[in-house]
Amino acid sequence: DIKGFIFDLDGVITDTAVFHSRAWRQVAAQVQVAWDDQLADQLKGISRMESLNLILARGNKVDDYTDDEKEALATAKNENYLKLVNQMTPADILPGINEFLAELKQGGYLLSLASASKNAQLVLNKLGLAGYFEKMVDPTSLKKGKPDPEIFRRGAEILNLRPENCIGIEDAAAGIESINGAGETSIGVGDPKVLAKANICFSTTRDLTLNNINNVFN
Ligand code: G6P
Ligand code: MG
Repeated sequence: DIKGFIFDLDGVITDTAVFHSRAWRQVAAQVQVAWDDQLADQLKGISRMESLNLILARGNKVDDYTDDEKEALATAKNENYLKLVNQMTPADILPGINEFLAELKQGGYLLSLASASKNAQLVLNKLGLAGYFEKMVDPTSLKKGKPDPEIFRRGAEILNLRPENCIGIEDAAAGIESINGAGETSIGVGDPKVLAKANICFSTTRDLTLNNINNVFN
């Protein structure tokens, strides 16, 4: 039976996936790489430097920039992103998430966060949600990012739970792969075509309720 829930942050709890995309899109324009929805989806869940490398690879430009120049591009992206994050308030929590978190807490489930973002703590604080999560995976401690299972495996470990007793929730294909690889149950939120490997997929965060989840599994 399920004892814990491991949450992705960006695109699940709040729409920072859109902020990340907007900030990366500016970088892509700067390095003259064409932007499309497929590239935007590919970047979801992927660490900052890996994202930059994916954008450059799209334009065959990985070798056109020195490490220092890449560092500067990644820093500029983060500064643009932080401008957006700093305007966030609890009103930016996605629909249904407050209710779902409260429901889980009341049900005695343990919650952890499995975000690749170095800004995760700041975002949770802005939203006033930090108190819900007993533990957070430190993304700087990981050897490999999503789609590797490490981050979601760690999400269960820090709760002292076995993976089979955990559900992971993700908006990114790379994240679903990580959850599945860790041996947990995966819930996707978003486009079912993009999240085809999820055990269950909901099109919106509004549908995240224990009732809906139990209905699917019973
Ligand atoms: C999450 C987001 C990605 C982002 C990554 C790193 O996984 O989905 O879009 O690139 O975190 O975020 P950071 O805030 O550390 O740049
Ligand atoms: Mg995400």
